[in-house]
Amino acid sequence: MQLKFNYFDEVTSTNSTLKADREAREGTVLLAKFQTSGRGTGSNQWESEKAQNITGSIVFEPTFLEPANSFLVSMAISVGIATFLNQYSNEVKIKWPNDIYIKNKKIGGILIENEFTASAITRTIAGIGININQTRFIKAPNPTSLSIVTGKHFNLGIIEKELFNSINKQYLQLKKDKELVYQNYHSLLYGKNKLLHFEDIHGRFSGQIQQVDYDGRLTIKDSQNDIRHYYFKEITFLH
Ligand code: BTN
Repeated sequence: MQLKFNYFDEVTSTNSTLKADREAREGTVLLAKFQTSGRGTGSNQWESEKAQNITGSIVFEPTFLEPANSFLVSMAISVGIATFLNQYSNEVKIKWPNDIYIKNKKIGGILIENEFTASAITRTIAGIGININQTRFIKAPNPTSLSIVTGKHFNLGIIEKELFNSINKQYLQLKKDKELVYQNYHSLLYGKNKLLHFEDIHGRFSGQIQQVDYDGRLTIKDSQNDIRHYYFKEITFLH
């Protein structure tokens, strides 16, 4: 699938703009220099200085997946981003559910918005924000960027094409072989088999991440060897 790149100087949010464009089919990418209301997950804002970073969204039509397996699209996108960033750092990790980390700091995030029928996922808008040339952040908690990590400045026009091509490659891989994407995701997963500290509604605890299911459910083995399961927002990572 050839990607179709569309460039805008300013939009509210690339996710909102692409979602509203009902003509935009699979493989359409929308990139903006600036978003006036860039959205993070939940009610968070996405901080990004004008023309310094990648802020873009892509349309997928993963009709080959059942709604219960929707997290596989997020896995493919995360692996695509991490594989791309791996050429600049060997400390890239995917932090469940939707963050990309380098050296224990957040370099980017993914905002997925799905449309379903009862039996299939008909349309996914995947918004991707990756910090590239920005070196100072005002509000973002624990941020980093490719410039901070490498000490270099990057040509955004080139790098954003490469990034989305890498994401597309993993998406095509997902169509062929879910298991390979699933395994690659786990080999890049932040905190896998390491002792980390968490907090859920019952309080704080320590444990090791075991795996993430096709529907996005996280499994942790706590220090008492009990298995705990979580969906998004049900658990916080403590640093
Ligand atoms: C997160 O980590 O909270 C997800 C951040 C996603 C940000 C990107 S930037 C491009 C796209 N458009 C948006 O409004 N948000 C996503």
